[in-house]
Formats: sequence, C-alpha cells, structure tokens
Amino acid sequence: MNAGNLTAEIIAELQSLLGPEYVHTDSERLERYGRDETEDLLYKPACVVRPHTPEEISAIVRLCNIYLIPLTPRGAGTGLSGGALPIHGGIVLSMERFNKILHIDEANLQATVEPGVINEEFQNAVREKGLFYPPDPASKGSCFLGGNLAHSSGGPKAVKYGTTRDYVLNMQVVLPTGEIVWTGANVLKYSTGYNLTHLMIGSEGTLGIITRIVFRLIPYPPHNLVMLVPFNHAAHACEAVSAVFRAGITPSGLEFMERDAIDWVRAFVPDINVQVPDEVQAHLLVEVDGNDMDVLYKDAERIAEVMQQHHAGEILFADTADQKNMLWLMRRKVAEAVKSNSVYKEEDTVVPRAALPQLLAGVKAIGQKYGFKSVCYGHAGDGNLHVNIIKGELSDEIWHNELPKGIAEIFELCVELGGTISGEHGIGLVQQPYIGIAIDEKRLELMREIKRVFDPNGILNPGKIYNA
Ligand code: LAC
Ligand code: ZN
Repeated sequence: MNAGNLTAEIIAELQSLLGPEYVHTDSERLERYGRDETEDLLYKPACVVRPHTPEEISAIVRLCNIYLIPLTPRGAGTGLSGGALPIHGGIVLSMERFNKILHIDEANLQATVEPGVINEEFQNAVREKGLFYPPDPASKGSCFLGGNLAHSSGGPKAVKYGTTRDYVLNMQVVLPTGEIVWTGANVLKYSTGYNLTHLMIGSEGTLGIITRIVFRLIPYPPHNLVMLVPFNHAAHACEAVSAVFRAGITPSGLEFMERDAIDWVRAFVPDINVQVPDEVQAHLLVEVDGNDMDVLYKDAERIAEVMQQHHAGEILFADTADQKNMLWLMRRKVAEAVKSNSVYKEEDTVVPRAALPQLLAGVKAIGQKYGFKSVCYGHAGDGNLHVNIIKGELSDEIWHNELPKGIAEIFELCVELGGTISGEHGIGLVQQPYIGIAIDEKRLELMREIKRVFDPNGILNPGKIYNA
C-alpha cells in the first residue's frame, strides 16, 4: 500500500476532483484528523479530504484503488475504539459536509438524512414534528449519525427503544470499488434476500461509505419521570436491575454509576448539584416515559418498591425539567470526567442483564489481581457495563504489557456469562487483539471473506475489527 507519502500528482488529482479548499495536507489538520476520542492515540494521515457528494466519494475511492491508498472514513471523531484512526496513513475522508436533513416524511414516520448530521440536531428536528428518534449516545451533542450507524451505537434509551440498528430502513452507500448502491427499501418489513442494510450497520467503515440514511421514527412520548436511587453496596444496585423488568416494567433508561463516577463528574462539572452521603457506593438512574402520567406514577411506585427490596437508600425524584436535565448531564459526562483525570481504557462489556452482579464482582476481582483501578458505569438495563481502567500511577510497562492480560480475563468472563466484548463502542483498533475471545475462527474467516467481496484491494479502513 501507498500509505505514507501521496505523490504531488495524486494530491493534484484530488484537488481537481474536489476543489483545492477541500484537500488538506497542513500538519495542524493532519494531527486533528489523526485522533478520535480513543485514549491518547494519534495516527497522522498523509491527507484529509472533505467531499460533498456521493459522486465525489466514488471518484476518490476509484483513485485509491488505482494507487492502493488506504482510505479511512470519519464522522465526528467521537469513537472510543479507534475506528476512525488512519493507522496505515493514507487519506482520511471526513463526512462533515454531508450535514443536511433532506426530508422528514410525516405521513410515514420516516426521515432521510445525510450521515454528517449531528445526532441531537436530528432528534430536535423530528421532535418539532412530534416525532422521536430514540438512539442517544452520550456524545449526542457532537457525534454524527453516520458514525452511529458504523457502530450501531446505543445510549440510555436503548433499554426500551433499541439501538441505532433498529431505526435504519435503508441507506445509500459508496462501495469500496466505487459503485453507488441502496442497500434495502423504505419499508418496515424486509424479506427480500440478504439484508445488506444490517450487514453495513456495525461494519465500522470497512465495507462502504454511507452517504444517505432512511430512518424510521416513532411518536414522541410526551411525559417522563426520573429518579436517582442510592445504594450502599454496588452489588445491590446491580441485583435490583433485572428485578425491575421482572416486576413488569420496561424503563426508558436504567443506568448504573459507581461512587467514583459520580464523584469525578461532580468535580468535572461544577453545576451538578447532587448530595451523596459518605456511605453510598453506587446509584441507579431510572427513567420511565409514555403518554399517561398516572401510569408513569404507578410504574415509579412499583420501581421504588423493587429498589427498597434491594436495600436502596432514599430515592431522589426529579421534580423539574432542570433537575432531570442535570441528572442526565451527570450521567452523560462520566466518560469525559474520567478522561480529564487520567489516561484510561474504556471497555464496553455486555452480558445478559441478570449476570450484571457477577460481571461487576469479576471486574473488581480481576482489577485486584492485576493491580488496576476501574470506574464502572453504564447501561445496566442492557447488561452493558462500561469499565474504565485508570492508568493513574501505573507504569508504562504494566499498562502496555500486563494490563492486556487483565482485559482479556474481563472479556473471557463476559463470554462465560453469555455476553460479548462490545455492546455499542465497536471493535475498531483497540479491541481487535481480543476479538478471538468472542468470535471463533470460522466466523472471523466469514467476515474476512465478506470484506474481500466488497473490497478486493483492501483499501477501505484497513486494519480494523479483525486482522486481514
Ligand atoms: C457512555 C458512552 C461512553 O455511555 O458510551 O457514556
Ligand atoms: Zn454508553
């Protein structure tokens, strides 16, 4: 591959395709597009391009095939597994100019958008029409919908409403060989051959570059209730989670935060005003939503009973919109708060939800064995625990050579409990060494063969998910 230096001729060809103002080789830009939100990693590309149409992308892709140049698609760069890092150099293709909501089809509850639209802007636009697009990653204020598709991102609402995957009906894709295709149809049912839409979702930019997305939407649920439930033992909080569902309630959010997560976020965002008594070790943040307040009050009462049965402390019911927003802000800012404290590794463990207590206990025991501290939080209702491993005072030697053994043990535990190694952040670059723990060789070989069918020259986001 022609990874490092693109010749002056290739740069000139890109400039004539896109216009010189959309082809960049200055070091500030190469550095900016050489990072995402994954740890402190940096891989500088040789060039950054910012196309505007599927046809321009097709022409770039064809050029990359001729000269065998690695091409890494990039959304907003909020990923946590290194999927957008140009690890072989070459070209970074930024989707930032694909930023239009093209059509909101109110009769069919659908919307057609470009992939560089920010998640929250899309949510707000459809909400004005009384419609709801539920997937809400913590980075919703900055992440792009295209990146959400690349990982099938989740977020707190997934527990009731599902992940990104559950809202995509159809998409337009530029294939790694340059053709522009639609993957499905704008319908709610699809039994028409292999489902290429779902193959593309979660493929982390290795099979094609998404240029249009058709989403399905649902009516916006107008009411919600939010409560913060303290526990003196994290294990009790985890045990309460599956009990809520067994009591017949599906909350629209059921999040877990360890004591450290809340303490660090309170230090990071001074506006967060939540009193946490010394003995409290964990919280559950619970939301119910729907059309009828009376039903929600009954659900909240039932949830409170379940929490008491699991030794909860005094529950805080948010009684204003501001208070609800503050509690959700507190939850969404945990990853940033941790990052501001120390270099860390973010693991995205997921198990069947009733196994959450065993997962948390196992993570802590493995931490003790290898001498690392972890701050755990996440989408408990989905059995999806984010395990933040803190570098702190650990030496580089331990961080790079010993810690991977501990991480492998955590992932082996996930699989033993019936889970897997990523629920919503993807494999990308940093989880690649561990993928064999969750996916056997035959399935990996199928994935590699699918990749070869789509991308015979291996130009598109090479080196991600599996070893080629
Ligand atoms: C969160 C992101 C890190 O849940 O997935 O905060
Ligand atoms: Zn998350």
